[in-house]
Amino acid sequence: MNSGCLSNHDFNSDINRAGTASLKYDGRQTMFGTAEVIPLWVADMDFAAPQAVTRALAERAAHPVYGYTVYPDSLYESLIDWLRRRHDWEVQREWIVMCPGVVPSLHAAVMAFAESGDSVIVQPPVYFPFFSAVTSTGRQLAHNPLRLANNRYSIDFDHLEQCAAEARLLLLCSPHNPVGRVWSKQELECVLRIARKHDLVIFSDEIHADLVYAGNKHHTLSTLAGTLGESAPHIITAVAPSKTFNIPGLNLSTLVVPDPGCRRALVQAFEAMHVSAANPFSIAAFEAAYREGEAWLEALLVYLRQSRDYVAEYLTAHLPEIRLIEPEGTYLLWLDCRALKAELGINDAELRHFFVHEAGVGMSPGTLFGEAGSGFMRMNIGAPRHIIKTALEGIKKAERGARQRTTSARSL
Ligand SMILES: Cc1ncc(COP(=O)(O)O)c(C=O)c1O
Repeated sequence: MNSGCLSNHDFNSDINRAGTASLKYDGRQTMFGTAEVIPLWVADMDFAAPQAVTRALAERAAHPVYGYTVYPDSLYESLIDWLRRRHDWEVQREWIVMCPGVVPSLHAAVMAFAESGDSVIVQPPVYFPFFSAVTSTGRQLAHNPLRLANNRYSIDFDHLEQCAAEARLLLLCSPHNPVGRVWSKQELECVLRIARKHDLVIFSDEIHADLVYAGNKHHTLSTLAGTLGESAPHIITAVAPSKTFNIPGLNLSTLVVPDPGCRRALVQAFEAMHVSAANPFSIAAFEAAYREGEAWLEALLVYLRQSRDYVAEYLTAHLPEIRLIEPEGTYLLWLDCRALKAELGINDAELRHFFVHEAGVGMSPGTLFGEAGSGFMRMNIGAPRHIIKTALEGIKKAERGARQRTTSARSL
């Protein structure tokens, strides 16, 4: 497989999303103060979902009654089959809790497993709802910052151990958004050892588990914990077809919770808010994606890898002041712009302004992901490659202009 245009999987064509109430497109004015940016920010892709999904939605829409909905057995089976086939994970039906999204589940987990005032560990720079799930529920953040060395992030295990001694819950992002790490078996085993020693519950957000580049392997934390037997820490794993098949607007995800006590606590947290996720369209799309979307996903992974490599080569050749932290998974690229920022003598707000108003590219500012994100930007490459190319050329042009201005100002 070497083409992005495999059979009916076309990732090169433009699809006009403006005017579809799309956050990524129709939210540009609010987010960036202008609609004139190439939107490479919020984490959905500009690609058509697998045809099987579109067909299943059309078939369901053709039935004109859209009433209250239950989760059919076939829905659970589609997920169980997927996890067995793709992740070597044997999941029991009763472990599965359906929920409206991973972010609501983060909140529910924080409420279920930490009391008000308790510490919850996060590993910044990290997907920002990890912070708000803790602070908005009255719990305390315990930061265990990732370490960056030789252009690669890793977990500071000594510091994690110190945090674990005080905390109740760890929010693990695996694979990690935004730094793109797919944690190795050894790293995850180390996390498990610390959690076991300190009786820490782990919420393992594995929403990006299917989006892993060739040469890397995602390990489901729960399968590794299985080898620890009775003494394994309690793990809540979040999985979803939303990122994998580009259907996040349909709001259906799942938690896999083997421990009955943890499951009860989570279900109670959802029930306390009367949150229900069942909806006739999301269940149709979920099942079709897991049952029939695999070939589409394989083609997508090839396309994304080519785009990732394209960006890496472009930056090396034309914009060496911006360095790609090479991702092992996800379609989110973490760009180290610290050299550019220093060269232009600008702060984070000005860096953001530079990308939006001079380059015409709307990315997520690194500081959204915590202080450690200062000088970084997150670029979403889930778009046709020619769009990525145009964005990079816009950045190059703006960089040349800004450098000239800086040089002239310094020589005055
Ligand atoms: C790590 C991570 N978790 C959760 C989400 C969002 O999940 P949901 O839309 O199901 O709330 C995202 C979206 O970018 C993400 O990157």
